[in-house]
Amino acid sequence: MGMNATAPRFAPAVLTGESEDNFSKLAADFFIARLETLKSPLVALPTGNTPLGLYRALVTDHGHRRDLWDQMRFLALDEYIGLPQNDPRLFYGWLCREFLDRAGIPDKNRVFFQSDAADPAAEAQRIEEWLRQNGPIDLAVLGLGTNGHIAFNEPGSGFDQPAHVVALTADSITANAGYWGSAESVPKTAMTLGLGNLATARQTLLLVNGAHKAAMLARVLHGPVTVDVPATYLRTIPNVTIITDRAALSAP
Ligand code: PGA
Repeated sequence: MGMNATAPRFAPAVLTGESEDNFSKLAADFFIARLETLKSPLVALPTGNTPLGLYRALVTDHGHRRDLWDQMRFLALDEYIGLPQNDPRLFYGWLCREFLDRAGIPDKNRVFFQSDAADPAAEAQRIEEWLRQNGPIDLAVLGLGTNGHIAFNEPGSGFDQPAHVVALTADSITANAGYWGSAESVPKTAMTLGLGNLATARQTLLLVNGAHKAAMLARVLHGPVTVDVPATYLRTIPNVTIITDRAALSAP
């Protein structure tokens, strides 16, 4: 799992925005700067509150860059299992509403797990195979779970895992209940890219904002590298940048 004592360790670069606006602008400028010189780059995208400002800034400040939006390829990090195509909880639907549709990304450049696939394990394998043939990811954009998860790689997830099916932990179900009214409304299983897929990304951008993430961010940066905190895999790979706001750095 890349966790032996002699394995190389890397220190992520940390950039901190003074305000919420500045956090998102930093992220958008980083995104454009790292991708604008590449041909048809492949970008992995997260769902959640954290990247909302990034997506808005990309559309507002960089929406005119048709040269970029017509050729970038986007891969959604994860998806709940078993939702019909019009369900408002679909992560893919959320990404379309918040970013892909607004930026006018062609359908052929959107790759995502089908929530309603009859066989979710086979669907995860389909994405794994797609990535094997079309990867690697040029930029993995990630959010951080308050339980240390990355995409839906929950605590205990191996650093070398492929795309797979997961049972969500109680922590993730509680965190996501905020979006859908109650824990009962949160699907209990999901498909996700594995940390093994994400670890091969050429560059990684982790976005972390808010005081509620501060304790976990401190563990990611300074605690032991362990599968108990999946996000610590970021210290086992090069080319990681973490963009935060001030509140996320406020751990004692
Ligand atoms: P959030 O979710 O951006 O809504 O905080 C992050 C995550 O749980 O991965």
